[in-house]
Amino acid sequence: MGIPTETVYGIAVDARNADALKRLYSVKRRPTGHPVIVHIAGIDALGEWARDIPQYANTLARRFWPGPLTLVLKRAQEVLDAVTGGQDTVGLRVPAHPLALELLKAFDSGIAAPSANRYGRLSPTRIEHVAVDLGTDIDAVLDGGACEVGIESTIVDCSGESPVVLRPGKITVADIEAATGLTVVDPGENSPRTPGTLAAHYSPRAKVRLLRRTEMIEALSSHKGKRLAALAMEVSVARIPAAQLIVVPAVAASYARSLYANLRTLDETGADMILVESPPDIPAWAGVLDRLRRAAHS
Ligand code: TXA
Ligand code: MG
Repeated sequence: MGIPTETVYGIAVDARNADALKRLYSVKRRPTGHPVIVHIAGIDALGEWARDIPQYANTLARRFWPGPLTLVLKRAQEVLDAVTGGQDTVGLRVPAHPLALELLKAFDSGIAAPSANRYGRLSPTRIEHVAVDLGTDIDAVLDGGACEVGIESTIVDCSGESPVVLRPGKITVADIEAATGLTVVDPGENSPRTPGTLAAHYSPRAKVRLLRRTEMIEALSSHKGKRLAALAMEVSVARIPAAQLIVVPAVAASYARSLYANLRTLDETGADMILVESPPDIPAWAGVLDRLRRAAHS
C-alpha cells in the first residue's frame, strides 16, 4: 500500500514479513541487497529494532522525531536480512505525517517503506505520482496531500562513535552538530553501504544539466532544434528563453517541496533536456544539490 510521509510517498509493507518484502523488491524493480528504512510509531519502539544505541542517537531521536531523519543503528538480532540488506545495521525513522503515524500506531510494529517509485526514478511527492509510476502494481494509496518536505530524509549513521551523514536532507549537518554537540564526520571505509544513493539516481527521463545562469542562457541559445525545458530561480534577472520554464523561489525549503513535482512536469513536456539553474553550494542547500547532482548524472 502507498502511504504519505512528510518527505515523499512510500510503499508500506510489514517489516517482519519476508514474503511481503520480496514482493516489495519486485514491485520497485530494485536489486536485492538494498536495505529499506523501517518506520516506527515512536522512540519507545527503538529497542525492538536496534541494539547498542549510543547516547547521541537517542538525543537525535528525541530532538527530531517525528521528522525527516533516519538513524542507522546496530540491528536487533531478529531484524530480517531483507530489511538490512544483510548488513549489521538497520535504518529507522518516525515520520511526521498524521496518517502515517496513525497507521503505525494501529499496526503496532515496524513498516518498511522505501519511496514509492521504480528503482532509479524520481520519488513521488503527490498521490498522483504514485499511480503514474507503479500503476496497478500496488493495491491502494492513502491520500495524505502533497508532501511537506519534498526530498527524502537525512540519513545519519549512528553505529560508530560519531554521527556520519549518509544522505543529506532537510535536517542539516549543522542541525545534527547543534543537537549532539559532536562533530559530524564524513563516511569512511567502515560506514554502512547505502546502495540506494548511487551517483545516477532520482532521474527523470530527459537528460538533466545543472548549470549556472549564464551557462544556462548560453545553452538555450546554442541548442536550437533541441527541445529544452528549464528550472530557474526567482532571483534570475536575465530572461530565460526556454519554451517550458518553471521559476521557483530561491528558498531551500520551498524549492525542495516542489523539486520532484517540477522535474516531473518538465519531463512530461517531452523535452530532450532539462536545464537546471544550480542553487548555491552552501549547507542549507545540501539536500537539494545532492538530488540535482544525481538527477544530472548519466
Ligand atoms: O524520506 C525517506 O527516507 C523515505 C520515506 C518514504 O520515509 N524513504 C526512502 O526510502 O527514501 P528509500 O528506500 O527509497 O531509501 C532508503 C535509503 C537507501 O539509500 C538505503 O540504501 C538507505 O536508505 N538505508 C536504509 N537502511 C540502511 C542501513 N541499514 N544502512 C545504510 N543505508 C540504509
Ligand atoms: Mg528511494
